[in-house]
Amino acid sequence: MSEKMPQDESDIDNLTRHLDASVSPAHSVEYTAQRLQSSGFAESSFANMNEGLPAKGFIADAGLLLAWNQSDSPTQRFHIVGAHTDSPCLKVKPLPDAGSFNWKQIGVEVYGGILNNSWLDRDLGLAGRVVLEDGSVKTIRIDQAIARIPQLAIHLDRDVNERGLILDKQIHLAPIWGLGQYRPGEFAEFIASSLAVSVHDIAFWDIALFDLTSASLLGADRSLLASGRLDNQISCWAATEGLIAASTNANGEGTTSVIALFDHEEVGSESTHGASGPRLAWLLKALHSGSQSQFHETLSRSHCISADNAHAIHPNYPDRHEPNHRPLPNMGPVLKVNANQRYATSPESAAVFLQACYSAEVNHQVFVSKNSMPCGSTIGPITSTQLGIPTIDVGVAQLSMHSARELCGAEDPALLAKVLKHYFSVL
Ligand code: CO
Repeated sequence: MSEKMPQDESDIDNLTRHLDASVSPAHSVEYTAQRLQSSGFAESSFANMNEGLPAKGFIADAGLLLAWNQSDSPTQRFHIVGAHTDSPCLKVKPLPDAGSFNWKQIGVEVYGGILNNSWLDRDLGLAGRVVLEDGSVKTIRIDQAIARIPQLAIHLDRDVNERGLILDKQIHLAPIWGLGQYRPGEFAEFIASSLAVSVHDIAFWDIALFDLTSASLLGADRSLLASGRLDNQISCWAATEGLIAASTNANGEGTTSVIALFDHEEVGSESTHGASGPRLAWLLKALHSGSQSQFHETLSRSHCISADNAHAIHPNYPDRHEPNHRPLPNMGPVLKVNANQRYATSPESAAVFLQACYSAEVNHQVFVSKNSMPCGSTIGPITSTQLGIPTIDVGVAQLSMHSARELCGAEDPALLAKVLKHYFSVL
């Protein structure tokens, strides 16, 4: 038996429940809202913001969740943690019924930068939101093996291992979901019967496929965690747990804690519910009682931790990392730095995060990409550009980012949650 076990099994149980519940942005928001509600946070809405916000509250709206814990005295600074609820996936098209040769297929649209091959030969369920003609919204989750994208057999693709697998997103990613002659309207009828509504009640949907495999510990020593959507449900979970844990402590005078879990990061954040949208700014304004210039002073005193997963060093591809900056699993959160501002971390904002790590007695690592390997971006630069709030990009190190099933150290998510708790409650 190895001695290296996750430090706290209950953290892992808590996280795997979150991962298994968060099969779409709306499901992640719904689950997080319940978690907040059971921890004493009161639900509010954008429509009610002018009627005064609860001291501890949240707004859950489709794939966006904002939650806060207000200071007893007027807000002098915000401590914000941002993350994103969406993950790259395959979304069902509005008119999806298709097929040929007696195979029934579903038309799908690629959402974000998926690793195409990772979606092959997996049993897939369906999850998302359905809007009815009366404007009401239903979340839908079908936990059965509904669909599958079968890979072409090696015998019919003899040089695939030498040439590499090339998939045309339009032609080769259409899942099969049954046999027989396909019929227009059939998918909508299936969704309607699953929701126990008439097909004529359905106005539109936002439904995606998800891998049915549950999150699980991995390795003979159970030191790793495998799941879909680690990017970025780990950060959504850690932000929420940090806020809940901190809410029992006294905040520094005038410090209001906020978490902002945005949708649409994987497609550039430009939407009403993405980080480029105005809704976090609406909330901060509503939480602040002072004048416009006092509000701007408050923002300049505030900071934001943008939490999104980082790339751990891959043992089979060590050349992809900068030699002095090679994040390892279970060695603590990664501070992400980029001189070209793809990450928002500045020397001053980095110091804030380091203070939180020291306070929590949690090790941290630093990542900068190779000059020949430009990095992706996060909501960090967007938040800092929109609001003028000094921002820090951090995240848990993982492998297989944007695969349908990703891998990280089992201890890192709880270490990030601990640092965020200290950020909210001690700094
Ligand atoms: Co991400």
